[in-house]
Amino acid sequence: MPGIVCIGVQWGDEGKGKIVDILSERADLVVRYAGGNNAGHTVIVEGKTYILHLIPSGIIREGKRCLLGNGVVLDPISLFEEIETLKKQDIEVGSNLMIAQNAHLIMPYHRLLDGLRESGNSHRKIGTTKRGIGPCYMDKAGRVGIRLIDLMDEAWFKELVRMNLEEKNVLLTQVYGEKALELNEILDQYLPLADKLRKFIVPGEKIVNESLDRKEYVLFEGAQGALLDVDFGTYPYVTSSNSGVTGVCSGSGVPPTKITQIYGVVKAYCTRVGEGPFPTELPPDENQIMRNRGDEYGATTGRPRRCGWFDSVASKYTCRVNGVTDLVMTKLDILDECPTINVCVGYEHKGEILTDFPSRADVLWECKPVYEELPGWMTSTAKVRKLSDMPDNAKKYLDRISELCGAPVSWVSVGPQRDQTIME
Ligand code: GDP
Ligand code: IMO
Ligand code: MG
Repeated sequence: MPGIVCIGVQWGDEGKGKIVDILSERADLVVRYAGGNNAGHTVIVEGKTYILHLIPSGIIREGKRCLLGNGVVLDPISLFEEIETLKKQDIEVGSNLMIAQNAHLIMPYHRLLDGLRESGNSHRKIGTTKRGIGPCYMDKAGRVGIRLIDLMDEAWFKELVRMNLEEKNVLLTQVYGEKALELNEILDQYLPLADKLRKFIVPGEKIVNESLDRKEYVLFEGAQGALLDVDFGTYPYVTSSNSGVTGVCSGSGVPPTKITQIYGVVKAYCTRVGEGPFPTELPPDENQIMRNRGDEYGATTGRPRRCGWFDSVASKYTCRVNGVTDLVMTKLDILDECPTINVCVGYEHKGEILTDFPSRADVLWECKPVYEELPGWMTSTAKVRKLSDMPDNAKKYLDRISELCGAPVSWVSVGPQRDQTIME
């Protein structure tokens, strides 16, 4: 059986949680391969809302095995908070969760430095979630990171933290004018977690490949969105990992030849949280209308999301780079009351029309969207369960998006509930 990937192909919050939840019904193993607790994936089942930050959304379904791959950055304190929250909602996390031994740990100085960088020089502000994600990946690439397996050896862990503090404390005190961190305080916080974490630790790449060898269905759950990918996103306004399909292999140890299907989730419009260029962003009053209709507030930080029309230049690019085989369009119902709908089909930049997505953020800031106007359907789609029952103008909208993005819209979501989904 195959390796199936589900990723967001906009700027995150496309509704991946809902779609992963549906796909995971068939899955034997659900794997998160990138990012950390910067994610917020909402799953609504029988009126109950679950928000997953680090743990794969598959955990909601009884008996499903979930894995945090090596590409994930793990904040152990936040992990146990999430486990507690799930427990209160009657979801038990035990042998159904595994964590790759070589996943990197988010340390207190990562969280601190993330916050300090964001509050300093405003022109460098990314609008991060301040969860320490960027600084943790910096240390991983800089070869001074601390991995989960390192925490299992007390003396070795202590030495690694001590070495890190030598450098981090200079940064904290001399660059940011903050207090130095105490080695013992960090050890007191982290060492007691070692025993609680031990039972989850596995060789992640072995687990994934053995599962595929047994012909099982392995589902890879993307976090963030392809336009936030550190290589292919709107750099520097991105997250610090490969949130797109390239991260699946490096972040879990699965060979690319084992990936057979790639679902790209898109909203029927666009949203973005944090700073960065967003060509189709609506002016403030219309932005607020869209935000209210779509209830667009961050599932992790509660920040209002910026809203805009569907950007086919950006999505065509992310579909191509990520080899999307099937598009899943969510939140179509949010457009139900729009008399007309705009789709961005090009960018006007310095008198030229661009149809290729620019790789420079400064160019993207200067781009003005060129819109194609489509007629709305002005009727509720929330109860539609078959494509053939869709209003004609909604069908036309879906066809046009497929055509522009170069991938078929195979699934459509018309509400947050599991059954509000039209499949194939
Ligand atoms: P994720 O990060 O990609 O998992 O997305 P989020 O959970 O951050 O945000 C998506 C939001 O849209 C959640 O509140 C979902 O419950 C909601 N949602 C998902 N699909 C639909 C849909 O088709 N219609 C409506 N109205 N809401 C949806
Ligand atoms: P899900 O998985 C939307 C954004 C932040 C910021 C940038 C960098 O729920 O779709 P970071 O804390 O990662 O260093 O922040 O990325 N961001 C997200 N935006 N959805 C997410 O996750 C995001 N995760 C990070 O707002 O602009
Ligand atoms: Mg989200």
